[in-house]
Amino acid sequence: MTIERSLVIVKPDGYARGLSGEVLRRVEAKGYTLVALAVTTPTREMLAAHYAEHEGKPFYEPLLEFMSSGPVTAAVIEGQGCIPGFRALAGATNPTEAAPGSIRGDLGRDWGEKVQKNIVHGSDSPESSAREIGIWFPNL
Ligand code: TYD
Ligand code: MG
Repeated sequence: MTIERSLVIVKPDGYARGLSGEVLRRVEAKGYTLVALAVTTPTREMLAAHYAEHEGKPFYEPLLEFMSSGPVTAAVIEGQGCIPGFRALAGATNPTEAAPGSIRGDLGRDWGEKVQKNIVHGSDSPESSAREIGIWFPNL
């Protein structure tokens, strides 16, 4: 497996709950390196680009509303296999179904809202990672 980079975001729910450090702790404990780190409130334009694959789906508008509702912690991480590796650390999209031991399984739950407040984002492929890092960290 080659050294790769992944875009990790601690979403507004995770940031507001003070979980940025816990997520970054798990990333570093796993052995991945932090390459870039920022706290920012994303614009709708950034989020529309980031979530282009989901445009038109029922959760798309609530997702953009939620993701632009406050600060997030965005990071680029690096390491062999870190794209699937971080997805495994994050757990399943639905925090109710995410396995205990994972970030979403240990720290997330259903809050009875239209959008899944599931604490973190992680890139799902090398192509997504390159595209997403270009949106969030254009100087890298
Ligand atoms: P998706 O890319 O399918 O999940 P993941 O974050 O695990 O890659 O969806 C992007 C985000 O959209 C997801 O993290 C939470 C939200 N979402 C919902 O609110 N409802 C849904 O039914 C799905 C599939 C996603
Ligand atoms: Mg996804």
